[in-house]
Amino acid sequence: MTQPPRRLALPALAVVLCSLAVCLPASGQVIKIPKGLKELREPEDNPATAEKIELGKLLYFDKRLSSDDTVSCASCHSPDKGWSNGEAFATGVDGQKGGRSAPTIINSGYQRFQFWDGRADYLEGQALGPIANPIEMNLPLDEMVRKVSAIKGYAKPFEAAFGTPEVTQDRVAKAIASFERTVLSGDAPYDRYKAGDQEALSEPAKRGMKLFFGKANCSACHSGHSFTDGGFHNLGVGIKDAEPDVGRFAVSKQEGDKGSFKTPTLREIARTAPYMHDGRLKTLEEVVDYYDKGGEANPQLDEEIYALKLTAEQKADLVAFLKEGLSSEAYPDVKEPKLPE
Ligand code: HEC
Ligand code: HEC
Repeated sequence: MTQPPRRLALPALAVVLCSLAVCLPASGQVIKIPKGLKELREPEDNPATAEKIELGKLLYFDKRLSSDDTVSCASCHSPDKGWSNGEAFATGVDGQKGGRSAPTIINSGYQRFQFWDGRADYLEGQALGPIANPIEMNLPLDEMVRKVSAIKGYAKPFEAAFGTPEVTQDRVAKAIASFERTVLSGDAPYDRYKAGDQEALSEPAKRGMKLFFGKANCSACHSGHSFTDGGFHNLGVGIKDAEPDVGRFAVSKQEGDKGSFKTPTLREIARTAPYMHDGRLKTLEEVVDYYDKGGEANPQLDEEIYALKLTAEQKADLVAFLKEGLSSEAYPDVKEPKLPE
């Protein structure tokens, strides 16, 4: 026997699955997954295609998706700023500011819960929110559809992606989400070290890595290939403010979720200062100090947060690991495309 029977059955199974319209193309066919990251599952009704990704990229960078043509997704999630915006708070149309910092969208394709409080499901469920949001892009969605339809140059890319030139809210969301799924960071010095390259990390970064997974307890929440458990935790950030942000509580209404926020990825963390949901910590050194003192006491403080009592050298090592270990040379540095007219 040259071929075991189980392998023969696979193509047949794929045909059956596809004909039932639940065909999930193995990711990596269209979207290239960097080393160290897991397979990326795409939704059944929105498998990635090169055409959809191309269209999504145009929409992502297009300021005409805002009421006064001044703000695009990239204004707050810019490839030049770690796919965030380098500020504590995001600035939308008319210079309006919200109360939370713009998270990076790097590796957001892996997470079900979107936003600091997880109120949106998957990227498709998130993409239209900021367009309609009055303090972000402020463009009602039916107007957005009219505006994009009136740009002649969009007919071709919509047709290539979806079969007809028609612009719909659903198609805009699917295209943007498909593009966002390509914004991945892996293959960092940490991954190469893990794969056996002893030289990939400096000595301080190696010591910092041991602390991260050991005494400093960071991996209790920043776990897995993208350094997040996808869960919500209270570290006490901003808890002493006059009106503290309730975080996940607004969605779950569970008392224990007060002041809890989603664990963010730490991939490319050196590029995305300032830190935390309200951007109050300016540097990674400040972040490590914050954890070292055990966060800010409050009734909902997560049990995994406690004083670490690190030495100055240990703190520096931890920062070295975060900066050096998780910054990839293959950073997704996408350039703004030429937009349709
Ligand atoms: C004015 C700034 C601004 C603009 C414009 C903007 N965003 Fe955001 N984005 C934010 C902020 C702030 C948050 C976090 C809000 C929260 O958690 O309540 C966010 C959250 C997200 C998240 C969730 C990431 C995560 O890890 O939870 C995604 C994905 C995202 N935005 C994509 C987009 C897309 C796509 C567009 C364009 C259609 C866009 N954003 C436009 C500021 C902006
Ligand atoms: C109990 C879970 C938990 C533990 C343990 C933990 N983190 Fe976090 N981390 C989070 C959450 C949740 C946030 C967001 C909190 C917020 O904004 O209020 C966060 C935010 C961060 C940020 C800011 C990310 C950004 O994009 O703004 C960094 C950096 C970070 N953590 C590093 C670490 C390090 C280093 C350790 C170990 C010393 C650690 N974390 C331990 C859950 C945890």
